[in-house]
Amino acid sequence: MTDVGELRDIVDWQNGLVAPMIHFDEDVYRAEAERVFDRSWLVVGHEDMVRKPGDYITNYMGEVPVIVVRDAGGQIRVLVNKCSHRGNQVCLFDRGNVKGFTCSYHGWSFGLDGTLTGAPMEQMLYRGELDKAAWGLEEVAKVANFHGLLLASFDPAAPAIEEWLGEDVRWWLENFVLGTPLGGLESLPGWHRYRSPGNWKLVSENFIGDDYHVYSATHVSWLAMVAEFMEKGIRIPIITYPGTTDPPLYEGSAGSGRSAPFGMGMVVADNDSLYKRDLLEAQELGPEAVEWVEYRQRRLLEVVADRPVKPYGFMNGLLFPNMGLMGFFSPMLGRHFQLFHPRGPVEHECWQWTMVERDAPQVVKDLAVQRVYQGQHMAGIIAPDDVENFERMVEAGRAPRNWRRPLHYGLQFGHETEGPTGLPGSLGPNPSEFNQRQFYRFWLEMMERS
Ligand code: FES
Ligand SMILES: [Fe+2]
Repeated sequence: MTDVGELRDIVDWQNGLVAPMIHFDEDVYRAEAERVFDRSWLVVGHEDMVRKPGDYITNYMGEVPVIVVRDAGGQIRVLVNKCSHRGNQVCLFDRGNVKGFTCSYHGWSFGLDGTLTGAPMEQMLYRGELDKAAWGLEEVAKVANFHGLLLASFDPAAPAIEEWLGEDVRWWLENFVLGTPLGGLESLPGWHRYRSPGNWKLVSENFIGDDYHVYSATHVSWLAMVAEFMEKGIRIPIITYPGTTDPPLYEGSAGSGRSAPFGMGMVVADNDSLYKRDLLEAQELGPEAVEWVEYRQRRLLEVVADRPVKPYGFMNGLLFPNMGLMGFFSPMLGRHFQLFHPRGPVEHECWQWTMVERDAPQVVKDLAVQRVYQGQHMAGIIAPDDVENFERMVEAGRAPRNWRRPLHYGLQFGHETEGPTGLPGSLGPNPSEFNQRQFYRFWLEMMERS
């Protein structure tokens, strides 16, 4: 591959045909760093992770290490974690509270806003000629706070965040991801991080729409185990999916054909059945839990008061390009946020954090957290199943002769929107590969922009 102009032939998303070259080729990978990761709005964290001045987290934007920090004036900044002297990382931990950052190589120090504040032996060695104003840390061009979710873009010409997300994506994010009507979310301390085989797009496309693998092969052992526990009346964690047929589940799509796509799997469009399941469980947890489950149900119904369809939540999702979601259909399940960072064509690194509904009683939060750790988590029983597949896909695709024959993304082709209408975006049959086709539509659009 030498020319990204060729991409149109191998990413035929309209016909559900995408060649695996885009998951293996070095040239595609390099072009993607510039055209997708340097131009997109990328999620870098949540404001709850940096509440006080001096609070910071580290993260990545593509392969670029960044520091997300609240400065002394309360402003959230995103700084490139790379010393302007000789390129060492200036922040070595993934979260904390500091007064500034001091480089471990020669000791240059930087303020919370990235300005160079001092260099050891400055007067003696630089003779008063070091232009400190010119040698601060690089600041990422744009930062946005969307209902607590922090996004940043390297591109000074990136569209406003409202435009990038589009109206229907914003509606779903605000109401069903970030819990705005419920009082917002609380982040739990710590990142869970792991390197894993497979191009980052393979994981992104899995979260945006691959519910096929959940029922058909990969996770059947998990589903069987859940069913067995439930039959025996044993209430344990691991109940991390809504069910299969009752209530009916849909694939949700927002941003289709317009903005950065946001796809959701297993959208529960009938708010009553899962609400009742939650209420039953809440009764075992005590009156506070019951009150919370009833309260949040009232709030969610207010959000959709004038809509013919009343969603309760969804299981999995992805906001383009690389923020995966899981566990958004019940207050008894913590909300997983996962970033799939590229690490070369055939590897990615997942950075995962957990959030719970801020105003929920502690007993609900405690259960919600356990379920994250036992489910879609590297120490849980779901995520390792996925990794095994990605490992084998890398092995099967390593040889360039295997890159041209397109893969099949044709599930529910032509039936994409055959679901209830009246909500922002669209609902269609689940499982489907509509959201994956939309993912590659937008990816190709970005790759082709000059
Ligand atoms: S590399 Fe940071 S002070 Fe020299
Ligand atoms: Fe999976």
